[in-house]
Formats: sequence, C-alpha cells, structure tokens
Amino acid sequence: MNNNYEITEELLIKNNQIQVLNILKNLDETLKEKLVKQILELDFDKINELYKKASNKPQILEKKLEHIDYIDKNKILGEQKNKYVLVGEEIIKKNQYAVVTMAGGQGTRLGHNGPKGTFKLDVKPTPKYLFQILAENLIKANTKYNITLNWYIMTSTENNDVTIRFFKEHNYFGYPSDHIKFFKQGDLPLLLANGNLIINDNYSIKYASDGNGSIYKSMLKNGVLKDMENKGIKWIFIGSVDNALLDMVDPILLGLTKLEGNEIGSKSVCKKDPSEKVGVFCKANGVPSIIEYSELPKELAEARDEYGELLYGEANIMCHLYTLEALKRIADETLEYHVANKKSNYMDENGKIIEATNPNAYKFETFIFDAFSYFSDMSILRVSREENFAPVKNKEGIDSPETAIKLYNDFYNY
Ligand code: UD1
Repeated sequence: MNNNYEITEELLIKNNQIQVLNILKNLDETLKEKLVKQILELDFDKINELYKKASNKPQILEKKLEHIDYIDKNKILGEQKNKYVLVGEEIIKKNQYAVVTMAGGQGTRLGHNGPKGTFKLDVKPTPKYLFQILAENLIKANTKYNITLNWYIMTSTENNDVTIRFFKEHNYFGYPSDHIKFFKQGDLPLLLANGNLIINDNYSIKYASDGNGSIYKSMLKNGVLKDMENKGIKWIFIGSVDNALLDMVDPILLGLTKLEGNEIGSKSVCKKDPSEKVGVFCKANGVPSIIEYSELPKELAEARDEYGELLYGEANIMCHLYTLEALKRIADETLEYHVANKKSNYMDENGKIIEATNPNAYKFETFIFDAFSYFSDMSILRVSREENFAPVKNKEGIDSPETAIKLYNDFYNY
C-alpha cells in the first residue's frame, strides 16, 4: 500500500491533480486504499489530452458541408418497392439480421430515475415501458417472418445491473431470453473546468458513459461481433431506446442499402424547424456525416435552398444499419471525442460536497454517427415522422412523454 500510495501521490502531482491529492491525504486507510486503486487504473495521458481539447476554444465547424441525397420511402412504389422488400425480407427470413438497442444513457433530461428503457409511457390501451414497446415490436416481426431475431442491448456501468434485473422481473416481456444479450459500453471520468477529476460523496472517482459511439468498440470487446459472426448474422440494425415508434425491422431500408451497394444505411425524417434538437445528415468533406444539433451553427441550421427547404433538413432518428463487415472495420477505428458541459456536484479539497448550480464539468462523448465518415457513401431513407419518430427526451413540452403518447396512440388508432 505504501508503495502504491507514493506512486499515486507522484502521479497526482505530475498531472496537476492537487485537489484530489488533498482529499486523498485525509482519508482513513480503507477509503484511501480504494481511491488509490481507482487512481492507478486511470490513463492520465488520455485524460490530459481530453482536458486540452475541452479547454481549447469551442470547436468551429471547419468541414466543407454539402447537402446529401436521400430516397423518400413514400415515393418508392410498384416494382421498385417489391424489389427492395424481396431483398430485405430474404435477409430477415434467413435470420441474417440482428437488432441492437442503445440503452446506455440515463434519462436525466426526462427526470426519470433509472435506465431510460424502464420509463413507463401512459399509452393506450395499457401503459408500457419503453423496453416493453421495443420487445413487443420485435415479437411482432418474429411472428411475421417466423424467426427469432437476436437482440443485443447496450447498457452502461451505471445501469447494467438494474437493466438486467428489470428484464428478468418482467419476464423479458415475452421475448425469448436466450436471444437477448446485454453488453456494457465504456465510460470516462468527468473533469472540472480546472482539469481536476471529480470525487463523489462516496470518495470514488466520478465516471460517466462515454457516448453512444462507444458501441463499436464495446461490441468488439464484449464478443458481440464474434457472436454475430458465429450466428451467421450479416446485417445489423442499431437503434435508440427512446423512440416509441421505432421501426427496427424495415425490409425497405435493408433492400435499398444492399441494392445501392452500400455497407451502411440510415433513416431520416424531414426536420421540423431550424431549432429542432436533431442531428442532420450531410456530406462533410465529401463523405457522409451527421452534424449534431449542438454543433451546427445557427446560420447553417437556418440555411434554405432555392425551393425554401432547409438545406440541412434530413433529421437523424437513430435508425442505423450496417453490414457486419462494416461494424468490424469501424471497431478498429478511434472516434473523435465531443465535449459537453454538465452540472456535477463535487468534493472540494476539504472534503466538502459542493452543489453545482451551473455547468461546471466536462463530459466526453463519441457519437455513433461519426463512424459514417469512414465510408464513401451511405443510403438514406426518408420516412414519415408519424410512423417512425416519437422521441421521449424531455420531462415536458417538446419531445416529452405527452407528445410521444399522442404520436403512439394516433399511429395505433387509439
Ligand atoms: C440523439 C442523436 C441526434 C438525433 C436524436 C434523435 C446522437 C449522438 N445524437 O440525440 O443526432 O437527432 O437523438 O432523437 O446519437 N446513449 C447510450 N450511451 C451514451 C449516450 C447515449 O447508449 O453514452 C443512447 C441513449 O440511451 C439513446 C441514444 O443513445 O438511446 C441517444 O442518446 P441521447 O444522448 O439522448 O441523444 P440526443 O441528444 O437525443
């Protein structure tokens, strides 16, 4: 321990973590040992690099942006439609298709205490949890195609155990549990504006999920990609947990992507207005991209073409499709981190917990769609909002349970 303590002390001094060192000094032996162990596990080179990135001026979008082409699902008719459906359904019926749900985020904005998928939406005829809505939709697809889809659910360190327990308690909502696999995403320490690590009230380092872009390396690390390969899966859908109208099994998206000769595809809806909090599809430096709402400058968000349409008007609804080969390739790449400012309580050097009133901490995240730029092209299928997008994001107002319930009930004619 002594030796470890000295190494830790040196590490903290070398990396400007004096605040943490002062907290550590005053702990009793048990707590000290616990915190030392955590500190020795940290990758300070990475942390310092992230802090440098965060403390630099906000990133200005320097890429050359252009509009990206899409196909409107409602305009695919007759022969063409049959062709896509046939190709897509063949893949599904051969059980070469799997579904992944990103459920690593917490429902903070929603004000829900627990994994977002455990939020109950008061829909008709009976209220349903978000996880339940997904499970029931997959069961419908299984019945339609006479298969059992493999369903992978990404959790986080924070919510993994609760999520698994929740599924068990609810008997997996009738889904065959041997076809469900949970895997954990990665996490990273939060940093205060002065670069210090945050110590929680239980004297441990505060971590947070490192963004949904974590999914690729997590699938590799946790053997999910290998499992898919062993099962003969060739195409994978990755979707979010917080869309009550998420259509996870769409043969047209599959058929279109395959017949266009692409390895990745995604669905979009027409962006409602320039301020809607959605990422938008575009080409950035000539390759497919999504620019997140938090990073799209106002003048670009408001830019319109000669017909008065938003230039960047194809909204991301987190319905992404990949070949297994594409996922394997991405998993070997390193995605860039984006910095978010968060509010976080922290312990000061006297061991007192300081309540945050304003954003005071940096959170580092990779975005799932940043991987699109490793491909020269992708298929984008524009779908109708009413049939595909009922986001549950905020406690009230826009994209809240109230708006999602209405969209859900309208879609199912209740
Ligand atoms: C996301 C999209 C945005 C899109 C919008 C549509 C990203 C980065 N942004 O924004 O472009 O227009 O949804 O609703 O994809 N998640 C994890 N782990 C994490 C963080 C998030 O699994 O570390 C999951 C969440 O559980 C959720 C999804 O990713 O299923 C989206 O997360 P959230 O952070 O809520 O994204 P938005 O800001 O809504």
